[in-house]
Amino acid sequence: MIRFDDVTVRYPNGTVGLDSIDLEIPDGQFVVVVGLSGAGKSTLVRTINGLVPVTSGSLEVSGQRVDGASKKSLRQLRGKIGMIFQSFNLVTRTSVLNNVLVGRLHATPTLYSLIGHHRREDVEIAFQSLERVGIVEKAYVRASQLSGGQQQRVAIARALAQEPTVILADEPVASLDPPTANMVMRDLQRINRELGITTVVNLHFLDLARNYADRIIGMRAGAIVFDGTAAEADDAVFTSIYGRSLTADDMLPAEAAPASE
Ligand SMILES: Nc1ncnc2c1ncn2[C@@H]1O[C@H](COP(=O)(O)OP(=O)(O)O)[C@@H](O)[C@H]1O
Ligand SMILES: [Mg+2]
Repeated sequence: MIRFDDVTVRYPNGTVGLDSIDLEIPDGQFVVVVGLSGAGKSTLVRTINGLVPVTSGSLEVSGQRVDGASKKSLRQLRGKIGMIFQSFNLVTRTSVLNNVLVGRLHATPTLYSLIGHHRREDVEIAFQSLERVGIVEKAYVRASQLSGGQQQRVAIARALAQEPTVILADEPVASLDPPTANMVMRDLQRINRELGITTVVNLHFLDLARNYADRIIGMRAGAIVFDGTAAEADDAVFTSIYGRSLTADDMLPAEAAPASE
């Protein structure tokens, strides 16, 4: 469970990133956060793994307090939280397998990581993670050789290799074409259902949010202005979240071509 209790985030320059957030996300839920650019979506997910400090209020993840946590407990917490970014954040000059093994580092004794030794159990977990996203055959390929969709799947495999309790994805499909965006959303949804990993995804496109979310959170100016099911989130709701009429840019263009791996 992730629990925000009256959480406010004020950045050093005075900008309010989050404004008195009260939010409970039960274990295993698939939550999509929507809102205009600047609404606070990234700030929300970054507070969950302690990347952005909470200014006031309290925040708990899996029974562990995040606000005011020691460096050591923050490190432990981050070890259990997989992060996925718009830009994939892979080391593109090395192999897919090495990238996924990065997900094992938090669980690797320092000596092994110093000498670059990978334990057999870690390599096994890395291969299982690649299997789960369907690209195990790319294990020894350089990450730079892969398409955007494949790179995002490697990033998902790296997150899975952490054996996380929570996955946070900050606009994971923003740089992908529509068929690939759907493919990555399906992967995230399937992993959530198969493994029960609590998943929070920030998205811009309304139709993707409606198609994949168990629950949609709408944000505006750092506050939660909608919290409901995908079925409840009709166009009028989105218009109120966005504070303006919907435009074509708010929808993912129709899925025209078959998934372009
Ligand atoms: N590091 C930062 N320093 C100051 N202000 C920031 C910083 N990061 C984000 N903000 C501000 O906080 C607000 C929320 O931003 P953000 O969480 O990035 O929104 P979103 O992800 O929905 O686009 C915006 O006004 C943004 O300009
Ligand atoms: Mg953002």
